[in-house]
Amino acid sequence: MGERRYSELEQALEIKSLRRIISAYLNYPDAAEEDVRRYERSFRKLSPTHKALLSYLPLKFQRIRRCISVNSYFIMSMLQAFEPPLDMSIDIDEDEHLENTAEHYHPEIPRSSERSNWSRHSESITESNSLIPEPSTFRGENSLPRDDMRSDDKQELNGNAIMDGATISHAQKKSCGSDKDSVGVAAVPAAHCCGSSSNGNVNSSRDWMDPSSQLNVPPVDVDKVRCIIRNIVRDWAQEGQKERDQCYKPILEELNHHFPDRREQSPPSCLVPGAGLGRLALEISCLGFVSQGNEFSYYMMICSSFILNHTQEAYEWTIYPWIHSNCNSLSDNDQLRPVSFPDVHPASAGITDGFSMCGGDFVEVYNDESQEASWDSVVTCFFLDTAHNIVEYIEIISKILKDGGVWINLGPLLYHFADSYGPEDEMSIELSLEDVKKVAYHYGFEMEMEKMIETTYTANMRSMMQNRYNAAFWTMRKKPQSRS
Ligand SMILES: C[S@@+](CC[C@H](N)C(=O)[O-])C[C@H]1O[C@@H](n2cnc3c(N)ncnc32)[C@H](O)[C@@H]1O
Repeated sequence: MGERRYSELEQALEIKSLRRIISAYLNYPDAAEEDVRRYERSFRKLSPTHKALLSYLPLKFQRIRRCISVNSYFIMSMLQAFEPPLDMSIDIDEDEHLENTAEHYHPEIPRSSERSNWSRHSESITESNSLIPEPSTFRGENSLPRDDMRSDDKQELNGNAIMDGATISHAQKKSCGSDKDSVGVAAVPAAHCCGSSSNGNVNSSRDWMDPSSQLNVPPVDVDKVRCIIRNIVRDWAQEGQKERDQCYKPILEELNHHFPDRREQSPPSCLVPGAGLGRLALEISCLGFVSQGNEFSYYMMICSSFILNHTQEAYEWTIYPWIHSNCNSLSDNDQLRPVSFPDVHPASAGITDGFSMCGGDFVEVYNDESQEASWDSVVTCFFLDTAHNIVEYIEIISKILKDGGVWINLGPLLYHFADSYGPEDEMSIELSLEDVKKVAYHYGFEMEMEKMIETTYTANMRSMMQNRYNAAFWTMRKKPQSRS
């Protein structure tokens, strides 16, 4: 696909979206503090007798505050490391026309309580010092950043219960110094993938982190930050291992089965659309594939880029992922337990050359001639139902696979836009599993393996509430000569 001129309007809209996302991250401490104040206000309303009975609660609130500080420290460190791919100093709000258009474009979609949504565009990797390129600018209409997160159950973990206040891991106390140990993940110069942090747009001053440039964001945006924190557990903590074993392990086993011959000289390729925080794409790379994650959410890309590129050692960071809900806790210590991550040092994990993350809308980036018949395998994990039009996703997957290529899917059909009742009347094609398979057969796939897998998504394993999916899991092969 040709490099389309990135219009000023698109650029301005993207800056606007990125500012909003950065502001959501920056607003995290205040929003979390506001929650604690709410708990305190409720406590103050108690009768003296009840207050006496629950006299330990103020101490718990103080503990939560310390946990918030530790989480905020991680978030700020992550933002410090972030190189915006755009000039964040441009004043975009002065243009009324743009403002109006931006409002029209802004993908703020009403979300179900179970998920939220995000987006972003991509790039490929070559001579980068970092494992994954910093999120690059999106190209293409309608490819404004979104965010798409499921936040199903509330809370879970193993890990040590904290007994008294939050702790900062040893490594976390260090300054975020050099990233000499980071693996150089590059973004593949796929179709639209472009404009990485090396494109000269980088703001090295951190003006965009200044409180004065911070926007007021709606609570739903800060919720997305909390969702990211839960996704960190799913992808990068020891505590997420169970969930990764449910979701990622079967996929890796299928890949291993279908591509037994993974020679270093000509490794098979694998695309992971909707890669989230990148762990599955990394595992596929470590298995011996040229792996590319595709993700369109700046929330996700900022975080995955930090973990993949700036981590210096395993368990360098500690967060308290479960402090934001008092519901369904078996004990306060469960709720306030720390989680250290990443459980592996990405740079030492043994990736295969060519590992990359491509920021951008899957449809925009991969529905391009240059991508046709270029992948040996495509892996979709909790991704298919993020589509406005699932038929389009399947058509593109078929198109980009080589003849005989393999598509492995695992996930439910919790259509992301099914509950979009907003004024924009978002398109949402919602098919049953049976019909999804029919569409796949139409586009030349044949089923090789099919089963259901019970799994959670970003669940708190110690919570009294566990949302379980009966996820569809399949391997389909694109029949030779079957391009429709
Ligand atoms: C439910 S999450 C799953 C993430 C990851 N695959 C996992 O299993 O943890 C869906 C992901 O797809 C991303 N996504 C949704 N629509 C997308 C699109 N059109 N292009 C690229 N990524 C998209 C979202 O930002 C989100 O990170």
